[in-house]
Amino acid sequence: MLNVAGIQLRYSNIPVIHDVSFRVDEGEIVSFIGGNGNGKSTILKGISGILHPHAGSVTFNGQDITKAPSQDIVALGMSHVPEGRRLFPNLTVLKNLRLGAFLTRDAVEIKRRLDYVYGIFPILKERSEQKASTLSGGEQQMVAIGRGLMSKPKLLLLDEPSWGIAPILVAKIFDVIREIRKDGITILLVEQDVQEALEICDRAYVIQTGRVAQEGTGQELLTSETIQKAFFGL
Ligand SMILES: Nc1ncnc2c1ncn2[C@@H]1O[C@H](COP(=O)(O)OP(=O)(O)OP(=O)(O)O)[C@@H](O)[C@H]1O
Ligand SMILES: [Mg+2]
Repeated sequence: MLNVAGIQLRYSNIPVIHDVSFRVDEGEIVSFIGGNGNGKSTILKGISGILHPHAGSVTFNGQDITKAPSQDIVALGMSHVPEGRRLFPNLTVLKNLRLGAFLTRDAVEIKRRLDYVYGIFPILKERSEQKASTLSGGEQQMVAIGRGLMSKPKLLLLDEPSWGIAPILVAKIFDVIREIRKDGITILLVEQDVQEALEICDRAYVIQTGRVAQEGTGQELLTSETIQKAFFGL
């Protein structure tokens, strides 16, 4: 579904991602793990069109999207839920959600998508007329994921969905990720909670200083000595 071949990404001409290649197959959950500042978010930006690679290529469902603008990429069925949620704090939950469906004018279709999001996150229906800023961190994360789902993606990029959330809601978010996958949405997940990230995924990539340092199935990486030393202090 997604094939990334040898991409380089830069900020103001300084290379941050060097020759990164990976793939995500349809129906998979693929995780990126790696410490702060190693380039996980930058790679997601380079896939969803927020940044464009200086070298290499990104192919999505057979189409070359290396240079495509982000809204074309959304139209092809990819949605990016960014780090830190990026909601509009003064808009209501409903308005934030509807922004995710910006490419659609079909009111019936928008309603259908909204019902899907409310089915996954019933609390958002109760909160729909509240300003986003009045919600808890976990609820705001639900809005961010819900907004991502409103474009009806085939591939959902999730950047640190458990960041800044009460532990009880973290479990809920991971349940939701499993549920979304069952509904046929493929997932690329960036996650600080390495244990959860490896348990939930089919395959994972370790991102270190802008490169892929290791890859394998979730199980392989959970039992890998390098991973246990680096992330679990064993
Ligand atoms: N807008 C930016 N301008 C310049 N440099 C940036 C920018 N955003 C990130 N960087 C740098 O790029 C590198 C990779 O950052 P990135 O945010 O992709 O890492 P990350 O793995 O997502 O980290 P974290 O776990 O903290 O989210 C870091 O050295 C960071 O300082
Ligand atoms: Mg990040």
